[in-house]
Amino acid sequence: MKNLAMLFARSSLSTINTMDDIRSLAARRVPRMIFDFIDGGADAELTMAANRRSLDDWHFDPRYLRDVSARDISTTVLGERVALPFGLAPAGLATVAHPDGELAAARAAGRAGTVFAVSTASGHTLEAIADVATGPLWFQLYLWKDDDVVGALVDRAAAVGCSALVLTIDVPTVGKRERDLRNGMSLPPRIRTRGALDAARRPRWIRGLVSGPEITFANLAGIADGDSAATVGAYVDRSLIDPTATWDRVDWLRRRWNGALVIKGVMSRHDAELAVEHGADAVYVSNHGGRQLDGAAGTTTVLPEIVDAVAGRAEVFVDGGIRRGADIVKAKALGATAAFGGRPWVFGLAADGERGVDRMLEILSADIDRTLALVGVPRFDDVDRSVLRSRDVAGGG
Ligand code: FNR
Repeated sequence: MKNLAMLFARSSLSTINTMDDIRSLAARRVPRMIFDFIDGGADAELTMAANRRSLDDWHFDPRYLRDVSARDISTTVLGERVALPFGLAPAGLATVAHPDGELAAARAAGRAGTVFAVSTASGHTLEAIADVATGPLWFQLYLWKDDDVVGALVDRAAAVGCSALVLTIDVPTVGKRERDLRNGMSLPPRIRTRGALDAARRPRWIRGLVSGPEITFANLAGIADGDSAATVGAYVDRSLIDPTATWDRVDWLRRRWNGALVIKGVMSRHDAELAVEHGADAVYVSNHGGRQLDGAAGTTTVLPEIVDAVAGRAEVFVDGGIRRGADIVKAKALGATAAFGGRPWVFGLAADGERGVDRMLEILSADIDRTLALVGVPRFDDVDRSVLRSRDVAGGG
């Protein structure tokens, strides 16, 4: 009897020990349409799988009988000390996962002492997020068709004290998210007959939807509303994305913004060179989590050549499939300053709101700490290429 009581006393979160656990709990808490919007990639999802495979194909070369008793997982990112070398990547519409959305994420990131990069497409306004943020806050931008729109967003980022702008360059048009098309994912999410039963089985999510803020691109109020029937991708594509944008727009942005500039979505050493030449402080290797060009390589396949091309002139970040502390240590060994993740925090939110994001960050922190001991390098800052074997698998990406 006592054992049975103990079993039921365990909160669901205490059984959450991995990103997979968080993802599974999220799948139970939000309707299929929302889960797929977060989880899905473009087309056949080959690049999404490649991100994971590429990480798995790097193997450690551990060293033992070294004193690893005093460990330190902190590092410095763009001049700011962070307690954790894993930041929250920009992800739009986090309010579809949980009404607290980016507010919860900002608070959790602050508690963990790490970066939160707010998406232009966030569900809460940048100002509201900045009000609750206690850690480094960055703001992600796209080059919209209208310079005045981008300029106004840049001014808002400066006004709330963002330390970096993240310019995402891998969306000249929106990728084909087949799951969203299949599910009829729209903004705001509309429960159609098909999905009604599924949604009815998630009363907690329905309650959040009813009591929470309207699901919309809060930063673009007055610019991007009034088209709720469109699928999310088509909506952004038609209304805002500028397929004519070229590197001279980066020069314009560089002149417009005094803080650190991060160029996100770099997958080629040539673009890495150009990013540095056009004034980037950091080159962020990303394929948008496999949500844009399907068939692109896994990010840690291209990371080493991009690190070589950058040659210490800028910091290098990476995201895509980072799910464990070992992945973050591998990223560092390959030359990244820090790693980022999108789905991990959005799934944390979907699983249990702010506590879910806290738990995700706790798991990764403990993972990194343990991995440092196991590879024989107690300080994250001292991790270098020597902790990895040369690539064991041909191609791999
Ligand atoms: C994203 N991502 C993204 N990137 C960006 O620059 N602006 C954005 O608004 C969004 N929105 C967005 C929404 C959702 C639901 C996801 C999952 C992702 C991409 C994101 O920043 C990051 O590159 C990927 O999520 C990294 O891959 P993982 O960590 O999700 O595997």
